[in-house]
Amino acid sequence: MVEAPVITVDGPSGAGKGTISHMLADTLGWHFLDSGALYRVTGQACLIEGVSWGDHAAVTEIARHLDVSFTAAASGEILVAYKGRDVSREIRTEEGGRGASTVAAIPMVREALLERQREFRQPPGLVADGRDMGTVVFPGAPLKIFLTASARERAERRYKQLIAKGESVSLPRLLEDIEERDARDSSREVAPLVPAEDAIIIDSTATPIADVFEQAMQKVRERGLNKAL
Ligand code: DC
Repeated sequence: MVEAPVITVDGPSGAGKGTISHMLADTLGWHFLDSGALYRVTGQACLIEGVSWGDHAAVTEIARHLDVSFTAAASGEILVAYKGRDVSREIRTEEGGRGASTVAAIPMVREALLERQREFRQPPGLVADGRDMGTVVFPGAPLKIFLTASARERAERRYKQLIAKGESVSLPRLLEDIEERDARDSSREVAPLVPAEDAIIIDSTATPIADVFEQAMQKVRERGLNKAL
């Protein structure tokens, strides 16, 4: 059986992975996996169920039986629900990010979510956004992109997003959070944030998103993935 092709898009928070992954999935008409959302929902489910992020056995049980659903709203926004309850907003807060990064460092939690992520690989293809998509979850993917940007640039992007939402935030605090999260995601023992050996590395610090997308599409065409399946 020919497996559906996968494009993996890995990299640190705020590098533009989500934007590029959505653009690729929309252009190709492929499925989309937001693996970070699975870790975010796991962290949120712990808060809902009264489980501490430090209780590895209990967090793993939550991940194993995670009742999560993704549905597209009429606006095109993806709504994320845990046990039928909409948690889309909560999982995107700074606390949601901390919870995700904390539970994502637990090896058994990653193991528990592995098969669930692979189930997203369906025809005609999948764009998978995360940290270890190219190294662990889909090591055989025909195109792997590692998208990065400087910590300062990522903090500034996040700052602008939050200010636009009317939230009061401090840029130095955001930069500190990003650096802390990068360190935690890159130094963990299991599936650390590193580019796959065969990944194409794109730095978006000074490159507009449209150009990053064009570079990615160039690789898609070179590898014949636009004609896949
Ligand atoms: O992509 P994101 O910001 O939604 O991810 C939230 C956290 O989940 C991030 O700190 C790292 C973790 N994560 C991970 O460890 N592996 C993935 N494949 C995706 C996210």
